[in-house]
Amino acid sequence: MSQIRQILDMNAFDASTGGEGAVKRRLDNLGAASVLFYREPIEMVAAKGAWMEARDGTRYLDFYNNVPSVGHSHPEVVAAVSAQVAKLNTNTRYLVEIVDDYLEALKTKLHGQLSNVVMTCSGSEANDLAIRVARAVSGKTGVIVTETAYHGNTALVTEVSPSALKRSPLPDHVVIVPAPGAAAYGEDIANGFRAAVVAAMETLETRGHGTAAFLADSIFSSDGIFADPAGFLLPAVQAVQEDGGLYIADEVQPGFGRTGDAFWGYERHGIAPDIVTMGKPMGNGFPMAGMAARPEHLAAFCEDVGYFNTFGGNPVAAAAGLAVLRVIAEEGLQGNALRVGAHLKAGLSEVAAGSDRVTEVRGAGLFLGVDLGAEDGSGAPDAGYTVQVIDRMRAAGVLIGAAGRFGATLKVRPPLCLNMAEADRFIEAFSGAVKG
Ligand SMILES: Cc1ncc(COP(=O)(O)O)c(C=O)c1O
Repeated sequence: MSQIRQILDMNAFDASTGGEGAVKRRLDNLGAASVLFYREPIEMVAAKGAWMEARDGTRYLDFYNNVPSVGHSHPEVVAAVSAQVAKLNTNTRYLVEIVDDYLEALKTKLHGQLSNVVMTCSGSEANDLAIRVARAVSGKTGVIVTETAYHGNTALVTEVSPSALKRSPLPDHVVIVPAPGAAAYGEDIANGFRAAVVAAMETLETRGHGTAAFLADSIFSSDGIFADPAGFLLPAVQAVQEDGGLYIADEVQPGFGRTGDAFWGYERHGIAPDIVTMGKPMGNGFPMAGMAARPEHLAAFCEDVGYFNTFGGNPVAAAAGLAVLRVIAEEGLQGNALRVGAHLKAGLSEVAAGSDRVTEVRGAGLFLGVDLGAEDGSGAPDAGYTVQVIDRMRAAGVLIGAAGRFGATLKVRPPLCLNMAEADRFIEAFSGAVKG
């Protein structure tokens, strides 16, 4: 039986060794909270487009990180942030035109009812607020999430992030459902997933909590990437909404065009979420995030508690956010994600067809999951082999991480500006790495 892995433990440096040089310095500074990628960590000095440059001069193709979504150090984002920080940076308790310019631009991407947006600094804060709003609106406290979900790091959000919990059991008000793949639900994922969510609602009712929210990342990133068939999420979401619960669409991973066929991941499923949370790619690295909700829902929450976020929605964040939206449109990055993503998926599927150890390629646009299995051809997830593949790809100049319940899924998530030649380079490196 494969061992269940925590998301932060995947492909991480073993801090118990103490490290040397720059690694030791980091461990001395961050202590037990330090999590470094790779068994031999990399010191980075610069990045541009889809490429990162290490201290030793090595250039790496970055398939690891969905934050610099329009490309590392994109000149338009850099210029917008630099100009605004040189002019004015303050909080949302003053009227500053660019903040409303940004909110209005963002709202053109959201469906009409979600006309209030609260700006935060992290996806965790956005999800924390979303759960609190859902509780205020529904009068209930229970939350349903997938079994390997990660939704952030506040106390409240850690409780609904099973993949972050190493020892603590889930609290009574949180019920998990298996990730929406064929392994758990067979051919009919939509109805199987709906049945699991309905059973979770019943459990929450029995426990006296009721269902305040079903919170899901529609690409199921930390669960191992489950995108198809588009539409499978709708019946589960409808069941929750019919019962008075809210659907919180965590768009921190799939949002801002990554899935290619839609701007938000939930759109692929034909859902009208009650709340949308967003972050990571929103500022292309400038720390910004947000929660979009209906005015009456936000008002219900604010009747009881005020909400203010010192840095959330500051004018520099607004400048970064506006530049990101502009670049996505001007450079056609959503369409690029669709085209280059399809090419990448086809290439990886070809490698899979020729290898016993690549058991499945899934995903949408530039967000793919690649399952790696045991040498005996049984298809059992193989986390040890996955780390070997990750290390070999690093040696070939490609950065890639793992996800999934057993840490045996490669999480393929390059910047949206990836070109065909870069996609081919990844396929070649992957093909070499799976062979060893
Ligand atoms: C799906 C999802 N939601 C929320 C978060 C939390 O975002 P942040 O790290 O900005 O707090 C993450 C971070 O990895 C995430 O993957």
